[in-house]
Amino acid sequence: MAEGAETVILHKIFFTFCVVSLVYNIYTQYGSIIIEIENPTFRLLGPYNTTQIVADDNYSQLIDINHFTFKINPQPCENYTAGFLLMIIVTSNPSNYENREVIRKTWGKNHDSTKVVFLVGESENISISNQIINESKSYGDIVQGNFIDAYRNMTYKHVMGLKWIVHHCPKVKYVLKADDDILVNSPQMLRFLAREFSPWGAKDLIACRVREHTKALRHKSKWQVTEKEYAPEYYPTYCPGWAIIYSQDVVPRLLKVAQTLPYFWIDDVHITGVIAEIIGVPRTQLVSFILSTISIQKLKTLGPKYIQQFMFSPPDMSLNQITDLWNLISE
Ligand SMILES: *[C@@H]1O[C@H](CO)[C@@H](O)[C@H](O)[C@H]1NC(C)=O
Ligand SMILES: *[C@@H]1O[C@H](CO)[C@@H](O)[C@H](O)[C@H]1NC(C)=O
Ligand SMILES: *[C@@H]1O[C@H](CO)[C@@H](O)[C@H](O)[C@H]1NC(C)=O
Ligand SMILES: *[C@@H]1O[C@H](CO)[C@@H](O)[C@H](O)[C@H]1NC(C)=O
Ligand SMILES: *[C@@H]1O[C@H](CO)[C@@H](O)[C@H](O)[C@H]1NC(C)=O
Ligand SMILES: *[C@@H]1O[C@H](CO)[C@@H](O)[C@H](O)[C@H]1NC(C)=O
Repeated sequence: MAEGAETVILHKIFFTFCVVSLVYNIYTQYGSIIIEIENPTFRLLGPYNTTQIVADDNYSQLIDINHFTFKINPQPCENYTAGFLLMIIVTSNPSNYENREVIRKTWGKNHDSTKVVFLVGESENISISNQIINESKSYGDIVQGNFIDAYRNMTYKHVMGLKWIVHHCPKVKYVLKADDDILVNSPQMLRFLAREFSPWGAKDLIACRVREHTKALRHKSKWQVTEKEYAPEYYPTYCPGWAIIYSQDVVPRLLKVAQTLPYFWIDDVHITGVIAEIIGVPRTQLVSFILSTISIQKLKTLGPKYIQQFMFSPPDMSLNQITDLWNLISE
């Protein structure tokens, strides 16, 4: 059977060639990123120990709202029976139509490993409510809860996002919670999650630009918090709400505790500080993956090759800045 053996060997050589060229292609196309996370406290998953969310949550309750419903509830995850890599939930004010448009046209373009939805509450302005319905019909990416969209209702919105993942997108590996005035370097982020982290997901991961030793502000300001609302002098270590990465497993655990604690309106402190401490998940520092103002300048003058790999812009970007940055990095 000499002929047969030869065929087998040829097949083996061919197979090896294919694997090598595939790996080489992936490598050269994506480049290498060096992780600079010191003492990681999370664990990466492999094909044999993936997690999956089991929805153990009362659908019609949202913290102290007893008749909660999703007024608009698209299902972008329903046909992905094996899940996908990243779901981005963007908290947005109903009146921020232009922010959503810019995101849809730039970093938020959907594809097979990432989807974007916008989380909104109800607007008291009829023309804005109609606009939201209209927008949802056109794009199918609005998730709306039945509470008034207001500054002090941010925690409802963030917890609604966790609830929506648990009930309607339980197989996604990572969740990014973002504000609608930042730029996410989505292609880079996908590579980072799939290559430097794991395509099967992670465990115990809450990652962001971590903030430590922040004092609760007692003087009159936008962020004023009374001792009745929050007694300690300092907030726990937390993730500022403009960009937070959650691994799949932490989402139902955060939700479960959030549903039982008294309402506290500063959502990022509450969820990624107070509740993360309760469930015992440390916050992972991602500061080296966030674009600095100096890098933005370098990017403009020298081009994308001269800056570090980054996943997010700083917060509070203008729409023109988001568009300009996107054009620079997606050339
Ligand atoms: C999952 O399995 C991978 C190997 O497949 C291993 O490296 C990793 O530590 C495991 N993670 C957990 C959380 O058990
Ligand atoms: C869910 O919560 C609602 C509102 O608090 C309550 O009326 C209902 O009985 C709860 N359902 C279950 C199954 O616990
Ligand atoms: C999922 O598949 C069904 C059947 O093909 C289709 O009707 C539905 O629109 C799909 N959902 C999405 C979000 O694409
Ligand atoms: C409702 O929103 C529209 C569009 O933003 C605005 O022009 C209008 O003044 C608002 N109406 C009220 C009553 O605030
Ligand atoms: C609804 O969307 C259509 C196009 O999709 C647009 O022409 C129309 O002005 C929109 N209406 C409102 C109230 O925003
Ligand atoms: C938050 O939402 C609830 C439920 O819709 C509403 O009763 C409350 O007035 C809202 N809070 C603010 C500050 O608007």
